[in-house]
Amino acid sequence: MDAATRRHILDEHGKPETPWRGEPNFGGWYTEEEIEVAVQAIRSSLDWKGEGFGGAGQQEIVNLESAFAAYCGTSECVSVNGAAGGLDMALEALDLEPHDEVIVPAVNFRASSMSVIGQGARLVFAEADPRTFQLDPADVIKRLTPNTRAIFPTHMNGLSAPIDDYLEIAEQHPHPKYGPPKVIGDAARACGGGYRGTKIGKRGYMTVFSFHTMKLMTTLGEGGAITTDDPDLAARLRDVRMFGGQENWGSNYKMTKVQAAVGCVQVRRLDEMIALRRKRAYERTAMLDGLPGITLPYEPPDCEHTFYLYTCLVPREWAGEKRNRLCAMMRDEFGVECVIANAPVYLSSGLIKRYAANTTDLPVSEELGARLFCPSLHPLMTERENAYLCAALWECVERLQ
Ligand SMILES: Cc1ncc(COP(=O)(O)O)c(C=O)c1O
Repeated sequence: MDAATRRHILDEHGKPETPWRGEPNFGGWYTEEEIEVAVQAIRSSLDWKGEGFGGAGQQEIVNLESAFAAYCGTSECVSVNGAAGGLDMALEALDLEPHDEVIVPAVNFRASSMSVIGQGARLVFAEADPRTFQLDPADVIKRLTPNTRAIFPTHMNGLSAPIDDYLEIAEQHPHPKYGPPKVIGDAARACGGGYRGTKIGKRGYMTVFSFHTMKLMTTLGEGGAITTDDPDLAARLRDVRMFGGQENWGSNYKMTKVQAAVGCVQVRRLDEMIALRRKRAYERTAMLDGLPGITLPYEPPDCEHTFYLYTCLVPREWAGEKRNRLCAMMRDEFGVECVIANAPVYLSSGLIKRYAANTTDLPVSEELGARLFCPSLHPLMTERENAYLCAALWECVERLQ
């Protein structure tokens, strides 16, 4: 984008009055249909002899679970009230003991690390692949020990992690008592992403999704689901979700029927919402082509990126302070926020740092954390808004050079 075009776009659009959030607070979008089904679900709860909002047996819950299982191609889906609870449930189902180890990416949101700590197991960090930001299979091999019970990748920022690679590694390194470590995906940010002809959520022991307000689809602000092809595991998760059933430990991880009714519409619209994100992301990549020094998102040929976040890297020499200046300039001068998603998780949580087995041998993750930034993206961002953002980024990068 040459300087004259840039100037024209910036002047014509003007700085937004309210800064655009790096990770928009409302990631999906609702239509009249979601409003209608929510109202219907409330109306169906007016009779005191009828069904209330809670309860995992309600028809709306059953409908959402079968729709989401069909979408992911799994036999089972267990809806929950959020991904963080779902991650806790996932690890609880492994019956971990204190010497058991779980491998988690360091470049990550904190929820899965918290789940490992919560279950009293050893939290082992591994590096991210600097091109895709996903848990690096080659580094996972280095962190495996005879105590490894699970490989716990996050599908970072809307792209699939290389699940087949972890499954192969797990097969080659069975635990002496429990067999191959379980591969459990945190797909909170990657609902609807594709991997080798299937949707994220099909492969591995189970996959946990978020329907939080920021995510690719949402069920009235909170919610989530766990997919699996293992009916025994699903039965246990259902028990755990609802106070433990006859045999298991449990609590309350249920979503409401109003949320589930909205979720059914959102699942139906998910591909359409992702298609718009992809369109904007590709247009952005074309407009940023040639932007000096900035690495734009990479989509491996066997993946379909949802572009939950549009993850870029500044050059090595800009790591840390200059990256931060770039983000501050984007926000202060152009009203566009960028989110740093994510620096190594132990840098922002003293508790995780205290409990982690390793935090000083992750140079790749530390460098990525100091170089990455994600400029705002939303499926409803217009072409003109996207062009403004690109012009602003060109302007900032050139000024900082
Ligand atoms: C990677 C990741 N995992 C888990 C979560 C937690 O999701 P929830 O808010 O649904 O509990 C988030 C939320 O931001 C996330 O980004």
